[in-house]
Amino acid sequence: MSIVVFGSINMDLTAYVPKLPQLGETLQGSSYITAPGGKGNNQGAAASRLGADVKFVGRVGTDIFGDQVLKIIAEQKVDISQILQDNEHGTGIAVICVDKNADNSIIIISGANFALDDSDVARAKALMSDAKVLMLQLEVPLDACLKTAQAAHEQGVKVVFDPAPAIPLPAEAFKLMDFITPNETETEILTGFKPANAEDAARAAKLFLEKGVGTAIIKLGAKGVYYENKSESGFVPPYKVTPIDTVAAGDAFNAGLAVAISEGKPLAEAVRWGAAAGALATTRKGALPSMPYRDELIKLMKEQA
Ligand code: RIB
Repeated sequence: MSIVVFGSINMDLTAYVPKLPQLGETLQGSSYITAPGGKGNNQGAAASRLGADVKFVGRVGTDIFGDQVLKIIAEQKVDISQILQDNEHGTGIAVICVDKNADNSIIIISGANFALDDSDVARAKALMSDAKVLMLQLEVPLDACLKTAQAAHEQGVKVVFDPAPAIPLPAEAFKLMDFITPNETETEILTGFKPANAEDAARAAKLFLEKGVGTAIIKLGAKGVYYENKSESGFVPPYKVTPIDTVAAGDAFNAGLAVAISEGKPLAEAVRWGAAAGALATTRKGALPSMPYRDELIKLMKEQA
């Protein structure tokens, strides 16, 4: 049984800077890397490194970045047979700044990611009969995302929905989500308030449950994770690590969560898998290169049990 990822693939151009630039400011950076990213791609690579059989549905361009990212995705043992090279759109690009506190700002040029349409949905649908979990994010068109979620829902495949980057969502979208995993900013866009602590997160989670979500998981970054569904709720404190780059930590979280769910682990443990995966991702530079492996995740969870 596999995890299907329907999502974005970018080439990330990342500059490490003392602080994020202000309006009109030119800054001297300390270093620079070019490495694959994209929320979907990061989640797929991490899920594979954490032990899942991952099938990816997405698009890159026919440009040099497309060739480079495809090669690296295949090296992650992700099935790339359903990634199209689009003749009309370039590979998605992310321009990222990471400051000395490991915080970041990201600009994305969607390119081929925003060309996903019903033909991609049909290819994803064909993978559902053998899937346990579908992972979605919002760097591809919402319509395609929701149609893929609907197909998963109809076939009993669990939908793990990362509303990132957040946009207002139609009411019917929430009913298709077995799991929603917003961070603080995304929670604010979707609920109207930014959770500052576990108590706020519980309030936000209840709003998501009222909208029809199965389980709401509110990621509070370095403050931990709150989760709630109709029968249980809980809080997972953050794993203690020294962060150097928080890019894609949320993607690693979703991968840890999805892999644990696909393996039938209880919810509390699945959220801990997510938290451990997210923490590990902050200890390395880059998006895809920072995604954690299963042995390191198990070691961290044992060390900080
Ligand atoms: O979540 C991190 C990702 O967001 C980066 O890899 C970048 O490509 C953007 O999509």
